[in-house]
Amino acid sequence: MTVNTVATQPIDGQKPGTSGLRKKTSVFMQPGYLENYVQAIFDGVGGVAGKTLVVGGDGRFFNDTAIQAILKMAAAAGAARLIVGQGGLFSTPAASNVIRKRGAFGGLILSASHNPGGPEGDFGLKFNMANGGPASEAVTAEIFARTKDIASYKILDVADVDLGTLGETALGDAVVEIVDPVADYAVLMEELFDFDAIAAMFAGGFTMRFDAMHAATGPYAKAILEGRLGAPAGTVVNAVPLPDFGGGHPDPNPIYAAELYDLMASPEAPDMGAASDGDGDRNVVIGRGAPVTPSDSLAMIAASAHLAKGYTRGLAGVARSMPTSGAVDRVAEKLGIPCFETPTGWKFFGNLLDAGKVTLCGEESAGTGSDHVREKDGLWAVLMWLNIQAVRQQTIAEIQAAHWAEFGRTFYTRHDYEAVDAAVAAVLMNDLRTRFDTLPGTDVAGLTVSAADDFSYTDPVDGSVTTGQGIRIYFETGERVVFRLSGTGTEGATVRVYLEKFEEDAAKAGGDAQEALAAVIAAAEELSGLKARTGRAGPDVVT
Ligand code: G6P
Ligand code: ZN
Repeated sequence: MTVNTVATQPIDGQKPGTSGLRKKTSVFMQPGYLENYVQAIFDGVGGVAGKTLVVGGDGRFFNDTAIQAILKMAAAAGAARLIVGQGGLFSTPAASNVIRKRGAFGGLILSASHNPGGPEGDFGLKFNMANGGPASEAVTAEIFARTKDIASYKILDVADVDLGTLGETALGDAVVEIVDPVADYAVLMEELFDFDAIAAMFAGGFTMRFDAMHAATGPYAKAILEGRLGAPAGTVVNAVPLPDFGGGHPDPNPIYAAELYDLMASPEAPDMGAASDGDGDRNVVIGRGAPVTPSDSLAMIAASAHLAKGYTRGLAGVARSMPTSGAVDRVAEKLGIPCFETPTGWKFFGNLLDAGKVTLCGEESAGTGSDHVREKDGLWAVLMWLNIQAVRQQTIAEIQAAHWAEFGRTFYTRHDYEAVDAAVAAVLMNDLRTRFDTLPGTDVAGLTVSAADDFSYTDPVDGSVTTGQGIRIYFETGERVVFRLSGTGTEGATVRVYLEKFEEDAAKAGGDAQEALAAVIAAAEELSGLKARTGRAGPDVVT
């Protein structure tokens, strides 16, 4: 066995974002780019000698090639055991579960989540820690620091590992263990949810379409929904993971999952529509004629989670990212449990979950999950909704209407302006920041500003402080606008505008969010001049 030590130089821009390092695939494929970053991870986490690591990704283009390099580098770094999903596949939540279940030191997850794949698409790599969750800010800072002074990396000079055959093989002094990526995850889901009740619902004629978008959840959804729960064959569509996601954009939002949204709005709609993203951590849930916003989904799950067998003891607390609507806050208040507001990014839930302060968390970006793993979990959310419907014997539309009647409705939408000139976006944000003192009391498009700030967060567990997490503007009548720059884009800047308004009156709870939020949308434009500054007629994506 030969360990090659390859001389290298620091490469600019290897700074992990909201969820690891995410770049154009062509950038990742440059000689040494991946290797530099992987070595920086190994060094940044204090070395992996003697450790167990979990490795897998969402199957996108370059996934298999990258995994080979990672395995050879991990073996060269002295790792003892490398647990790899068969074919190099792991959904992100399943990888999180395996890290926890097997007591691994951590894992390397290859994904650019909901971004398109392929040679022209995106690629990504992140490190998850022993708790199964994305590396903390302190660890990613350490990794980034290593990318800036790296001088060499080590890699084994051996033949590629066969990722297709289950079982153990030697790789230098390390053992590579190829596992079924679905098995452990399916066991966990069966522990949390009442499979018999859900199976009975399917047997009774309940219909569903789950769109796996040719991404990582396909095999999981097939095995669990059709295999174990008896949903008819064909319930899961686009089930085969493809390196380019079939040319699609594996983001289950109303634009990229338009076919599903259209179906659910049509007379042919099944009882439930659902979809997940590239790496299986996001979800959308749609009732017949009743799309559920992710913020509402979190609130509705919080109100009914005790109906699922893994949650009968109730919730210790809930957490949502700052831009997520306040709908869940109202449920928490009624349940008498704490509700935490964190920066965007699942990693910020890790400490709260580890400390037992929260059981359930969610984000407006189509993420919901619980303390069962340390990632958001698309299929988990779908199973939770199935379980709730099975127990309540109500449709999603009925559950939604009942929720709004009890708690009021928080109208919510997000407007994204993608690939904006980064300098223009920065000036827009800075201009808003200079007005925090003068804005309160002023009228904007008929609404009066009550407060304005830049969100910063002090972690209640470790005291770490994270600043500059999004500009919040509150109005006297309860509306809120948030401006934030995406941390996951790979082209210019993506400006996200999050808009919400609370409506207590059940009689006004129905209707279209864009209409209900028209005044807030106008106020956001007047405050920021976003359209004028970018020369855009409107947002690229509306969720
Ligand atoms: C990833 C993270 C999420 C986060 C989302 C936001 O998906 O896992 O936790 O909410 O990115 O992305 P953004 O583009 O808004 O930074
Ligand atoms: Zn994802």
